[in-house]
Amino acid sequence: MSEYDSIARLYDPWSRSVVEDVPFYVEEARESGGPVVELGVGTGRIAVPIASHGIRVIGVDSSAGMLEVCAERAALAGVEVDLRLGDLREPPVDERVPLVICPFRSFLHLRTDEDRRRALRSVRQLLAPAFGARREREIHDAARVARAG
Ligand SMILES: C[S@@+](CC[C@H](N)C(=O)[O-])C[C@H]1O[C@@H](n2cnc3c(N)ncnc32)[C@H](O)[C@@H]1O
Repeated sequence: MSEYDSIARLYDPWSRSVVEDVPFYVEEARESGGPVVELGVGTGRIAVPIASHGIRVIGVDSSAGMLEVCAERAALAGVEVDLRLGDLREPPVDERVPLVICPFRSFLHLRTDEDRRRALRSVRQLLAPAFGARREREIHDAARVARAG
């Protein structure tokens, strides 16, 4: 039982005006090529628009109620989101992906440093090795440019 179960049907009316971050995540997903893992997928505010661009999304959430609303939202939009009940500290995902997202403060639900470290370790595992290497190279190059400047 999650504390979000009791507000699952209120979440969409409450968050209706929160739209400014949607294009950012859709663009990131498009650039990555997918699939995308969203941790704390909620009712699909971000996942459904991404899936609507033809990108596979695996959505993990600890609230069955939020996942139920998400499934309805996806069906209404005519898309599929691969929804999985689970904890974002140990997401039930074996696939390796180029992008993991955790929008709209889901990460802030983790209350201890150890919980946050567990979640970040899981994210690292989820990221495909090739993508991880590319990111490391980008960071390395950026650091070199910064030093040279
Ligand atoms: C503020 S909502 C954000 C939902 C969605 N990402 C969005 O952008 O609208 C936070 C979500 O994180 C989920 N959540 C909180 N703690 C979690 C945990 N430990 N594991 C998985 N999901 C969690 C909640 O059930 C809720 O659906």
